[in-house]
Amino acid sequence: MNRRHFLLMSSAAFASMLTGRRAAAFTRATTENAEPRSMPLLFGADYYPDQTPENLWEQDAAAMAAMGITNVRIAEFAWGLMEPKEGNFDFKWLERAIGVLHAHHISIILGTPSAAPPPWLTEKYPEVLMVNDRGLQLSPGTRRFTCPTNATYRRLSLTIATEMAKAFSATPGVIGWQIDNEFTLGESGRCYCRFCRDGFQQWLRQKYGSLDALNQAWGTVFWSNIYSGFSQIPVPLPSGAPPNPAHALDYDRYQSFANVSFLREQLTMLRKQCPGHFITTNNVGAVDTLNMRDLYRDLDFVAADNYPGFLAIFAGGSGSGASIASQALAPTIAFTHDFMRCTKNGEPFLIMEQQTGKAGQPYFSPQPEPGQLRLWSYQAVAHGAMGINYFRWDTANFGAEQYWHGLLQHDRSPSPGFAEIRDTIRDLKSLGQDALTARCDAALALCYDNDSAWALTIQPGQPKLKYFDEIVSWYGSIASSHAGVDIVNASQGLSHYRVVCAPLMYIVSPEQAESIRAFVKAGGTFIAGFRLGVKDEHSRIVPTPLPGLLRDVMGIQLIDYQPIYSEKQGVQFTGLLAGSAADCHLWADILAPQSAEVLATYTTGAYVGKAAITSHNFGKGKAIYIGCHLEPADLARVLLTLIASVGVSNPIQPPPGVEITTRRTAKQAWTYLLNHTANPQSVDLAAAYVDARDRSPVSGTIHLDPYGVRVLMKT
Ligand code: GLA
Ligand code: ZN
Repeated sequence: MNRRHFLLMSSAAFASMLTGRRAAAFTRATTENAEPRSMPLLFGADYYPDQTPENLWEQDAAAMAAMGITNVRIAEFAWGLMEPKEGNFDFKWLERAIGVLHAHHISIILGTPSAAPPPWLTEKYPEVLMVNDRGLQLSPGTRRFTCPTNATYRRLSLTIATEMAKAFSATPGVIGWQIDNEFTLGESGRCYCRFCRDGFQQWLRQKYGSLDALNQAWGTVFWSNIYSGFSQIPVPLPSGAPPNPAHALDYDRYQSFANVSFLREQLTMLRKQCPGHFITTNNVGAVDTLNMRDLYRDLDFVAADNYPGFLAIFAGGSGSGASIASQALAPTIAFTHDFMRCTKNGEPFLIMEQQTGKAGQPYFSPQPEPGQLRLWSYQAVAHGAMGINYFRWDTANFGAEQYWHGLLQHDRSPSPGFAEIRDTIRDLKSLGQDALTARCDAALALCYDNDSAWALTIQPGQPKLKYFDEIVSWYGSIASSHAGVDIVNASQGLSHYRVVCAPLMYIVSPEQAESIRAFVKAGGTFIAGFRLGVKDEHSRIVPTPLPGLLRDVMGIQLIDYQPIYSEKQGVQFTGLLAGSAADCHLWADILAPQSAEVLATYTTGAYVGKAAITSHNFGKGKAIYIGCHLEPADLARVLLTLIASVGVSNPIQPPPGVEITTRRTAKQAWTYLLNHTANPQSVDLAAAYVDARDRSPVSGTIHLDPYGVRVLMKT
């Protein structure tokens, strides 16, 4: 699926939203010799000396230095210049470019170029081309058209990266690496070629050990698919009927594995060749083809690409800059930042690419309104970023991204956002390294799991039911408590959260069930959405009453479940949730409380009077089941009431459209107030603070300009 669309699917879910730990020295999370690495300030630009006449490099570097830029990221698409013919390497031009930049005290992050193989490669080795999910081979001539399994593509990618690493491991100014560029985010996220089929078969051999085990786990007796040789197992391309869900789920896992192992080849080499450099890769957030936790596990930090305005192209609205600020988009971007931060345990992450102006390929996004570029930069930092690279320094006059505006215009004059970004860089730097590496406060956790995402995409149950939509709809609801949200896997330690939410947790593993049980027992509040624990890890429906492994914790059993199409169910709330009735769309789980209390019932349909929402006291905690699919506004009311009922809230209650986050070290806290609206806003503070910019005391009611930002400190 096109990467941008995956993110965008979510924005509708927000359409009617109402919303209006410890000090972390940055540590390298590698296996060998994990030494704490202190990070330099990184406020840079994505620069393309490969696309820029050499006589402009000097003035570019001088202008970057003058605007306060600390670093660039370069060369991630320059394979064709670095290896013009197979085995002929030319790094002279890049050495000169680095020399010019370094002379102006600009550090360099080098990109390995495997996302854009040159034409000689695909001409000589056409078998490296990816085959999409319709069985069609992709054409070269763009980027991201190659197979992650193909041995030739891997060998040649590793070779160019190794030659680069050798050439630049000791070059003054070079500080780190970005491997490849936005893994899997092309027109086709997964490859279905014959090399992937062989790789998949091998991976299955390792995973299951024997065909018997695989046949058993997948239930291949269904439709007579019993495999008597691993070589018979196909990739799930279009066939006479939908695939076996277990087969398709394992293929999604294999494709993620193939990409992660592709990255690891370059990572292992870079660790050896360049032990003094940091290593990362960049991505746009939750992509449906990758287990991002696996991808980043041994990298030094997460790097994220942030294009709020790009979403506006597809999200509808008036097309004016103000529509970018729509209430739908601010939480979508916040979710992405929280997702990226939590991909690596909440450690500070780097924005590798950040929008600087109109953005687009075939279309332009709206021009950001004055203040929005600053706001989006602060929003990233408010959610845990330690630095920002602005995409891109100049604007290309040729190629597929001529519409993607940089800090310089097509005629190399400063862009409309240039001064705003220059000032933002200055201000963000002045926050200091402690603020930029502090941890984000999060009393709430939201479970996100690739297995459930993949299995539900394979079999949504109701065509409009989308895992990602549910996740962001729940995120938007709970984030508006301003209590901070981490995105977690339920199997990780949950004890430091007050409330853990799990929408559409369709697959529940025994480890996840155990971790949730321990969390609730010890006093936590667990709030699950419908379709909890329907399946096991082989995508088989559990042979027990639902919600399967979590029946005892939830204190209920399902009587039935119902996809909802044109009709809708009415829901009426009681007790703690008493309030106006709501409609239930898309899905209804019908609950029979065993030992749970009823908080809502269905008012229409065959199950009138049956429970739709229940709450169960379990151990020292509470387990709440929301069986009905609610529209965002109703969901927000329900979730915020439940969260408030266990005493979680932010002492500052801002008006709708204003976001609050807090980052904290052992000594200090920084509270970010972000006005995502085009109007001035006032916020009543509950305590006294110091303004981070001029250290002046702040208390009472403070004012935020349209798209304004304040950072308040407290010791
Ligand atoms: C991405 C890529 C960049 C560039 C920008 C703009 O995030 O990483 O190479 O394509 O988007 O499209
Ligand atoms: Zn392939």
